[in-house]
Amino acid sequence: MSSTSDADPVGSQRPSSGLKQGQEIVLKIEKIAAQGAGMAIHEGVPVFVQGAIPGQKVRVCITKNKGGYIEAKMRKIESKTVDEIMPRCKHFAKCGGCIWQHLPYNKQILYKEQIVKDTLEHVTPVDENIRKSLSGRVLSIIPSPQIFNYRNKLELTFGYSSMRSETVDPQGSESKCVYFDENPSIGFHQPGQWATILPVEECHLYDEQITALLAEVKRFMERTKLPVYNPKTHKGMLRTLLLRRGIHTGEQMICFVVQAKKRELEPLFQHFTKFGQLPNISSLIVVEHFGRNDTLSSSGINNLSKKNIHVLKGPPSIKERLFDLEFNLSPFSFFQTNTLAAEKLYQTIAQVADLSGREIVLDCYCGLGSIGQYLSRFSEKVVGIESNAHAIEDALVSAGTNKIANISFYKGAAEHVLSKQLAPGGKYKFDVVVVDPPRAGLHKKVVESILGHSPEKVIYVSCNTSTFARDLGEFLKNGYELRMVQPLDLFPHTAHVETVALLQKS
Ligand SMILES: C[S@@+](CC[C@H](N)C(=O)[O-])C[C@H]1O[C@@H](n2cnc3c(N)ncnc32)[C@H](O)[C@@H]1O
Repeated sequence: MSSTSDADPVGSQRPSSGLKQGQEIVLKIEKIAAQGAGMAIHEGVPVFVQGAIPGQKVRVCITKNKGGYIEAKMRKIESKTVDEIMPRCKHFAKCGGCIWQHLPYNKQILYKEQIVKDTLEHVTPVDENIRKSLSGRVLSIIPSPQIFNYRNKLELTFGYSSMRSETVDPQGSESKCVYFDENPSIGFHQPGQWATILPVEECHLYDEQITALLAEVKRFMERTKLPVYNPKTHKGMLRTLLLRRGIHTGEQMICFVVQAKKRELEPLFQHFTKFGQLPNISSLIVVEHFGRNDTLSSSGINNLSKKNIHVLKGPPSIKERLFDLEFNLSPFSFFQTNTLAAEKLYQTIAQVADLSGREIVLDCYCGLGSIGQYLSRFSEKVVGIESNAHAIEDALVSAGTNKIANISFYKGAAEHVLSKQLAPGGKYKFDVVVVDPPRAGLHKKVVESILGHSPEKVIYVSCNTSTFARDLGEFLKNGYELRMVQPLDLFPHTAHVETVALLQKS
């Protein structure tokens, strides 16, 4: 949670504090740090408190003293800030999804803009003079068109809201632990709670139609009493649920991930099929998953064989539109979760790219190819790279539907594809490179290969300003200038901020 988890601040020698783990102190929060934690200064040392906001006086418990900075957990709000408003959701402060619902939206976006400026100024690993100039390149943030009900995808876990265990025959040779699981339900894991879930009764971030689908799933659970998966004993069937909706098409998907073999699923299929007769469900899918973790790893997703995916209704994907383009969304492909804000994001990328129609463009970490397909009309050729095999299949289907002939896709890790098939000096020389990596940022080999292609422009789309700042340092040291950074809010009520940055060859 700290501001230093992805990249350490540079160029500052800080004092240290003698505070010990477990010690309680009262602090006045002064500002928002990277990742959204509230920051106070205690005896010259920054203290980061997750969930705290500027102006609050909070009692905290020290969890880590790293010398140069401290992490602390909120115990109690001693006094509120004048900015605070009533959060809309009854789960606020418990579920961990929204951390800023008690802040007016105009304050949230100002804090996000400030996070971007501060991170670039303090974290980018370049000379102090350059570092200090970077925040001046940050434009005013573009707000989200909707601040509630903006998400087109909901992922939930089936589980128990409480779990009790007792040791049976503790003295005897048959001693064993027995679990008494209570309240099978569906919800989110609260921060730090991997076994139990917080049942979700309302969530204001999701599209209202998705909330209606969820209510149906709950009725279905109630009717059938199918056993939910227990992550401690690894018994049970229902594991996770994914609901997706095409905001512009109205198509909806329900995908159950279950621990069960097809023959065991036969009786379930009948229920699901019956359930799938509900109107407006375009795609109903059941995926078999026997791994220990609920979350399918990226290699797990790539290795899912067709025989583990059972399509009960409709095609195995739904359609969504951005502008006049239609995209194929299968359950495990990445697609921007805030459809209306995604259109703003893509317009920003196109403006910044300012293509003449003659460029060869690389869309690196392309997902289902949405950025590349949007840019293809302004370019001579677009090449996409993506490691998720399902996303590549979706990209190929969409490019066909959209009748785009000047795009091709490479399936594989960007660091491998750019060192082999698309290495500098090979088949293509990229004029413009768009990168949109996951939160971890760019692999070193990807930076090296992009520098080898020596594009006129690198457009860096980031959902994690700390790793963007780290990677930015490499481009600044190798002949690129930061022309501008456009922050956008795709995730209201959370501390996440998206940025589009233009790096131009100097
Ligand atoms: C933030 S998403 C961006 C997707 C897309 N550009 C969009 O706008 O929808 C990052 C994408 O990178 C993919 N990815 C993750 N690691 C990768 C890697 N090493 N090489 C290529 N793609 C990767 C993920 O599967 C995901 O689709």
